[in-house]
Amino acid sequence: MYDIRVTPVPAYKDKPQDESKLGFGRRFTDYMFVMEYNRKDGWCNARVQPYEKFQMDPACMVLHYGQSVFEGMKCYRRKDGGLQLFRPRDNFARMNRSADRLAIPMFDEEMAMAGLVKLLEIEKDWVPHSEGTSLYIRPTIIATDPFLGVHPSNTYLFYIILCPVGAYYAHGLAPVGIYVEDQYVRAVRGGFGFTKTAGNYAASLKASVVAEEKGYDQVLWLDGVEQKYVEEVGSMNIMFKIGGKLITPALNGSILGGITRDSILKMARHMGLEVEERKIAIDEVFDAAANGTLEEAFGTGTAAVVSPVGELCKDGQVITINGGKIGPVAQAMYDQLTGIQYGRLEDPFGWIVKLS
Ligand code: COI
Repeated sequence: MYDIRVTPVPAYKDKPQDESKLGFGRRFTDYMFVMEYNRKDGWCNARVQPYEKFQMDPACMVLHYGQSVFEGMKCYRRKDGGLQLFRPRDNFARMNRSADRLAIPMFDEEMAMAGLVKLLEIEKDWVPHSEGTSLYIRPTIIATDPFLGVHPSNTYLFYIILCPVGAYYAHGLAPVGIYVEDQYVRAVRGGFGFTKTAGNYAASLKASVVAEEKGYDQVLWLDGVEQKYVEEVGSMNIMFKIGGKLITPALNGSILGGITRDSILKMARHMGLEVEERKIAIDEVFDAAANGTLEEAFGTGTAAVVSPVGELCKDGQVITINGGKIGPVAQAMYDQLTGIQYGRLEDPFGWIVKLS
């Protein structure tokens, strides 16, 4: 139904031999999907072409004003060799919400789906085989007008690149240490914290360098108004198990509405766990640690999957959670989520899109 032409690559890259060394985000496949936008034709010229460097004008708007959005999703290989996606339409729908907030013209989500499927048909041999690996999918839109006025661009490029990956954190499912950031903020009320846009990640970098210097893996962001309530970690949403309940910050406009977050909440309710989406003060978390009711903490995200938090540090005060080990709920969520994603478990939620 969609006309997507394919330009063959002149030569293929070597595929990674040792899948245990894939890491995250460094190697890219042979092809990418691309389409363009201009005011006259709208989104047009959809194609699968060789992965190659773009030629960009130094005045290109994305380079100056950061008008860009992106997504992260994965293609999984089942034991029988077949391939499947996890909630890809939710990613494209979120990308359009991000685009709208960044004054980027929205795209036809089914067109993007068709482009992704075509790209994956061609690149199917790049999907790794080993436990815990997948093909990470990074759809991106950038503003391409060569213009220095502060105004939405009239032209854009939408592209999807693919990257065989292992665990996001070098230590895999081992618990991470998180530093509670009390100086900088990531997002404010009315801003674009709920979007996946480059600026949100740029805003996080300085604090993450400081946290790393202190020996922590990532930063936990507090709200941008009172710096009192928990928001999210740089690359994942956060959940706590306190007094038997699974508690996570409610989506308030400054937190990314994670698709993994939503999936975990649905799975938790399905398993009969009591779930609360609400404001959660960082003091409540530290008080719960002090009175013994903080049972677990873990992050959730496409790249990070389910990532237990073993230690939290705020103002020099350090708490160790569940003895610094992965807890039973985080483990159960990881097992069920990856079980569905890799086709080991039935998918009662209708999340899987099978490709082969
Ligand atoms: C993802 O989880 O897919 C993300 O985009 C987070 C991070 C790698 C930026």
